[in-house]
Amino acid sequence: MNVLGIETTCDETAIAVVRDGVEILHQAVASSADLHQLFGGVFPELASRRHIEVIGPLLREALAFPIDLIAVAHTPGLVGSLLVGLQAAQGLSLALDKPLVGVNHVEAHLYAAMMEAPRLFPALGWVVSGGHTLLYRMEGPTRLHLLGTTVDDAIGEAFDKVASLLGLPYPGGPHVERLARQGNPASIALPIGKVRGSPLDLSYSGLKTAVQYALAKNPAPSDLAAAFQEAAFEALVTRTRLALAEGGYQAIYLGGGVTANARLKERFAQAFTLPIFFPPIALALDNGAMIAGLGYHLYRERGADPLDLEARPRYNFGL
Ligand code: KG4
Ligand code: ZN
Repeated sequence: MNVLGIETTCDETAIAVVRDGVEILHQAVASSADLHQLFGGVFPELASRRHIEVIGPLLREALAFPIDLIAVAHTPGLVGSLLVGLQAAQGLSLALDKPLVGVNHVEAHLYAAMMEAPRLFPALGWVVSGGHTLLYRMEGPTRLHLLGTTVDDAIGEAFDKVASLLGLPYPGGPHVERLARQGNPASIALPIGKVRGSPLDLSYSGLKTAVQYALAKNPAPSDLAAAFQEAAFEALVTRTRLALAEGGYQAIYLGGGVTANARLKERFAQAFTLPIFFPPIALALDNGAMIAGLGYHLYRERGADPLDLEARPRYNFGL
């Protein structure tokens, strides 16, 4: 079964064709990050406009393949951006007379870690991206139970804000990682946020503020970047350790843009002995293949969604 995946939740317009949930036949990504650099963050109206400009040509390319199902990321994301992808998907579903299935973008980030990996359950799953920091217990690709989340900033957002404090371009994650490689993380003490009464939840706003205060003392930027990065990842490691203490987990899957970070991979490999799976770089950032891949499983398990499927900008924590 060939699944067309459509991803327009934020600033990437990403289209892919995936066979049977695993084999990527076609993949294309257009980003509007160039437009947002001036603002230090995503400018929603510019993102929607760029989606409108590029989605037609990108879809035309993908339609060179025969399509059996259309999967679209319909939640969570920027409402204007979501609507461009959703309306394109609805139009195609009607025109091609093919079923439509709505996919949760953050859950698809976890599926990206499974596409080329063995599937071992129950597993722990981390989504670490610009918009989300979510810890799940996973019983299967489509069966996720939320265990913890950030109560304020997402981890990628913290990287982006720290990058901006250090005068680095947007998106800041890769720049902070590069700078941190030359720094000594032990030279600056930074706090690891805790949430009272919710040991599996996280908080990144205190860490960001601590970076701001530390900056006033004129440290080497590389030391500050390294100290921030270690503290940001230590928060994930401590929650993982706590969660693993119960539950008989077989593996850890991580997804989302922050998994592009090599130090994160190293830190998890040092800390845990069970199998750990990260998506390949092309699937770590927003992409259409993860939407098509998870959409395939959702369709097989519960069938198509109605054509009037709605965009849901906010993540539904009750799922
Ligand atoms: O998953 P993604 O492409 O979009 C969202 O769904 O948010 O994640 C983008 C986020 C940005 O905050 C970016 O700074 C961060 O991932 N990121 C990184 C790295 N590469 C991207 N953070 C840390 N280290 C990296 N190498
Ligand atoms: Zn994402």
